[in-house]
Amino acid sequence: MGFAKDHLTVLGIETSCDETAAAVVVDGRNVRSSVVASQTKLHQKYGGVVPEIASRAHIENILPVISEAMSEAGVGQDEIDAIAIANQPGLTIALVVGVTAAKTLSFMWDKPLVAINHLHAHLQSAMLETEEIELPAVALVVSGGHTSLYDCASPLELKLLGSTIDDAAGEAFDKVATILGLPYPGGPSIEKAARSGNPKAVRFPRSMLGRDSLDFSFSGIKTAVLYHCRGQDMKGADRVGEMSEQEIADIAASFQTAVIDVLVKKTKRAAGRIGAKTVLLGGGVAANSALREALERMCERHKPALRLLVAPKKYCTDNAVMVASLAYHKIRAGLLADLTLEPSSNG
Ligand code: KG4
Ligand code: ZN
Repeated sequence: MGFAKDHLTVLGIETSCDETAAAVVVDGRNVRSSVVASQTKLHQKYGGVVPEIASRAHIENILPVISEAMSEAGVGQDEIDAIAIANQPGLTIALVVGVTAAKTLSFMWDKPLVAINHLHAHLQSAMLETEEIELPAVALVVSGGHTSLYDCASPLELKLLGSTIDDAAGEAFDKVATILGLPYPGGPSIEKAARSGNPKAVRFPRSMLGRDSLDFSFSGIKTAVLYHCRGQDMKGADRVGEMSEQEIADIAASFQTAVIDVLVKKTKRAAGRIGAKTVLLGGGVAANSALREALERMCERHKPALRLLVAPKKYCTDNAVMVASLAYHKIRAGLLADLTLEPSSNG
């Protein structure tokens, strides 16, 4: 099936949440095309992703997005060596659209199928532009659905060290943005508002879950923002409508700083635990400049210094480049899927 070839051209497909994406990547690094059809506008009025709407939009978009990725890359089916699909974790009725498309193409074109874990793929984005990586690495995925720390011994060997016990970091950004009346998706809105805010204006709680824990909890801080806006007994009127832009900016900056403090401290704790040499950062929230800078400062100060590898901003949020890129490593390791592949909401 072409695996003795010097070069591998992979078609990657991603439909785990609210982006329909396809990409063609050669040898895990050389990005020939990347197409992302975002559904932000469809979900905006609900303040979050509605699974049924996401699934229907994936069905409409999947074939045009794949065709566009192929034509942008200038490849036909004969040049594709394998088809990679993110089949977990995510919304099952969204994942199933991509899985069905990938299995159908695999069957029709007689190409091998590669199953990709969406969270591991987010971390692959952080390794996209670097040849040599000193291992072990602590890997932090911060997305809308997950906040997870891994011990990464290689792109294919990720051991979960801790994860969120309630809301994910991105989810907290989205919910707090809704509380503050900022537009969806919340992460970029909070980041923008926070730029003109005072991060010390409100002291929001930093939940560390005990001295040794590598798990996360972000529901407390979300509730603290709500109390701050409505009063401790929640009986007060929602003051947000009367707040000045500066007050909103101060809350956004204080919230963002508190979340980043926790993410950085836990990453540092995990790095010490496994004797990491490198820190990898991926997922939608990794697009946040304040988080990137705070992690960079921690890595520089760490003794011995850690090397921070962050996904390029355009590959932080969901895309299919990360899927096709990780597939390269799985193919080289002989890890292929077959047509019995199913989507799974768990990661
Ligand atoms: O990885 P992703 O695209 O989808 C999931 O796998 O969930 O992450 C989406 C999340 C959303 O919660 C969004 O608000 C957040 O990433 N996000 C950000 C930023 N850009 C996207 N959070 C903070 N700052 C940003 N600049
Ligand atoms: Zn994601």
